[in-house]
Amino acid sequence: MIIAVDGPTASGKGTIARRLAAHLDLPLLDTGLLYRAVGQQVWLNGGNPDVEADAVTACEFDDELLADDILRSEDVGGLASRVSVHPGVRKKLFERQRIFATQPGGAILDGRDIGTVIAPEADVKLFITASVQERARRRWLEMTDRGIEVQLAEVEADIARRDARDINRTDAPLKAAPDALIIDTTSFDRDQVFETVLEAVEQTL
Ligand code: C5P
Repeated sequence: MIIAVDGPTASGKGTIARRLAAHLDLPLLDTGLLYRAVGQQVWLNGGNPDVEADAVTACEFDDELLADDILRSEDVGGLASRVSVHPGVRKKLFERQRIFATQPGGAILDGRDIGTVIAPEADVKLFITASVQERARRRWLEMTDRGIEVQLAEVEADIARRDARDINRTDAPLKAAPDALIIDTTSFDRDQVFETVLEAVEQTL
C-alpha cells in the first residue's frame, strides 16, 4: 500500500503523514527533507541555489545531513524552495523516492508531487491544503512558540512566495492528482482532519 500525502507548505500534511505512519505502522519519507538537504548543501558548497549546476552538484549530500536540525529552519526551507525548481535536481532525487515508495510492505511519502510524479499508482492520494492566511497563522504560532520573533505579515508573504514557486514551476508543479482526495483543513482541528483521512484510507483497505 502506497499513500501519497501532498500539499503546500504549512498545510499540516507532515503531521497527518506522521500520524498515519504510526497508526498503520508504515515507513514514512518526508521528501521535503531531501530538497532541504540539497538547499543546505548548496549553501555549504558556497554555490548559488538558483544555478541549476550548483544545485545538481549539491544533490551528492552526505545522508548524515538529513538528521541535522538546521534543515528545519526557515532559511533552509527558502533554499529548498529555490533548488526544487530545477529539473536536474528533481531527476536526481527521483530514484531514491521511487525505491522508498515501492518497498515491499508499503510506504507513506509526503511532499508536493508524490501522487502526480513519484508514485502515480499510489493506493491513496491525499492533497492537504488550507488558506494562505490560516497556514501563515499556524506557522507564525509555531515560530513564536520557538521564541522566533517574526511578523505575521512577513510569514504570510514568505508562504505566498513559496506557493508561487511550487505552483508555477514547469517540472512537477504542486497540484492535486485528478484522483486525490482534497482536504481543506482551514476550519478543522487536527483530530477532525485525521478522522477524515483515516476513513478514506480504511475504505481502500
Ligand atoms: O515540505 P517542506 O517545506 O519541507 O519542503 C521544502 C521545499 O522543498 C518546498 O518549499 C518545496 O518547494 C520543495 N519540495 C518539492 N517537492 C517535494 C517536497 C518538497 O518541490 N516532493
